[in-house]
Amino acid sequence: MAKLFAPHKILVTAGPTREMLDPVRFLSNLSTGEMGYAVAREARRRGRKVTLISGPTALKKPAGVRWVGITSARELERACRRQFAQNDILIMTAAVCDFTAAKPSKQKISRTKTHSLHLMQTPDIVGGLGRRKRNRLVIGFCLETRDWLRRAREKIARKHLDGIVANYYSPAHNPFGKRRINTAFLDAFGNARILKKQSKTQVARKLLDWADSLALGFRKKI
Ligand code: C5P
Repeated sequence: MAKLFAPHKILVTAGPTREMLDPVRFLSNLSTGEMGYAVAREARRRGRKVTLISGPTALKKPAGVRWVGITSARELERACRRQFAQNDILIMTAAVCDFTAAKPSKQKISRTKTHSLHLMQTPDIVGGLGRRKRNRLVIGFCLETRDWLRRAREKIARKHLDGIVANYYSPAHNPFGKRRINTAFLDAFGNARILKKQSKTQVARKLLDWADSLALGFRKKI
């Protein structure tokens, strides 16, 4: 369960991971890192001690934040494992690429000689840490293209999260990059709050307020 005080040491992950297929090609997703960087900046502004583990992004490193760069899901897992124990809370905004090459090629893969690629799942990083979180808080993020609230709720239990920030993509609602988004904050007690048309800085502020209240153990309706 959560600590009885506001989390001071905050571990944030941000951005996509990149899974190399060969020396010049990779598998990834559309994450820009905006959300995680906004959380890191806002946490720092509140005087918290922040470590930001970041996948490849075009964003400026936030001042006053310990920044750790990673590329692949495997590297992200290693960095998270190293940092997790020293923090009070993990806010996992990283868009981990779910698949990686079973055997990345040392040479550029030949188009004419290759008809399909053999992929395998990446490890569920936050799920593994959630299982061993003890008195730390763990908040996940997710992005769905359908049944976003139901799927988000399932992930809270499956990944041992204290809460999740659910996002969705539709042709009318593209949440990537610097834009206003609709999100839902769901906690492990079944409470839900939908936030509409918020900037990522606004979401970050509300998320950190929410994390503080979860840490204080308030089972109030959020
Ligand atoms: O991709 P998914 O919707 O399962 O992501 C939910 C949460 O799980 C996110 O916080 C994401 O960072 C995390 N995740 C992870 N390892 C993966 C996939 C997702 O930690 N391989």
